[in-house]
Amino acid sequence: MSAPSMTLYYNAASPFARKVLILLHETGQTGRVNFKPVNVTPVNPHPEVCHDNPCGKIPALCLADDNVLHDSRVILDYLDHQHVGNPLIPRDGSARWRRLTLASLADAVLDAAVLNRYETFLRPEEKRWDEWVDNQSEKISRSLAYFETEAVTELSAHFDIASISLASALGYLDFRQPNLGWRSRYPRLANWYYEVSQRPSMLETQPPA
Ligand code: BEZ
Repeated sequence: MSAPSMTLYYNAASPFARKVLILLHETGQTGRVNFKPVNVTPVNPHPEVCHDNPCGKIPALCLADDNVLHDSRVILDYLDHQHVGNPLIPRDGSARWRRLTLASLADAVLDAAVLNRYETFLRPEEKRWDEWVDNQSEKISRSLAYFETEAVTELSAHFDIASISLASALGYLDFRQPNLGWRSRYPRLANWYYEVSQRPSMLETQPPA
């Protein structure tokens, strides 16, 4: 096999990076990437990442021609055009917009969960804002309730951009909020997640213990 032609800045705890890792596994492209683990928070930028991605966020994917792709949605779109199997992002038609919208809702869950992680872990205790945390948590609850009642059957049909994004979001909730108890409130989603969690791409990309 030829040497990896791309470099991915990532962190094993980042659910946004995990989406990229899952897609790489699902599409058989892991061998094309040199994986570069970095520690990045909003108050601890990484000089090398900032050099390649001015906003300093991960994941960022450096291509062989020195172009750098970010954020995770752009990277997933790029990588989905680099393999010969079935696309994981539908190319056109109503399926494209539906699956991208579901993926966007899952990303909103991720955004809220990561913001709450920063608020409750990084921010000095005396500056924390409970109302902020409550509102992010409500955003997560509303979104999961939507997936439970409106989308779980659709999700079961394909493991694609929507499923990758939601699986990553639920995995992150388990990782950072293990006592949230979402499974009892969203039992259909819990069954769906149990099934997709058995996929090699999910098992091989679990957040650190
Ligand atoms: C985390 O440790 O929770 C985390 C790491 C990187 C990006 C987002 C969250």
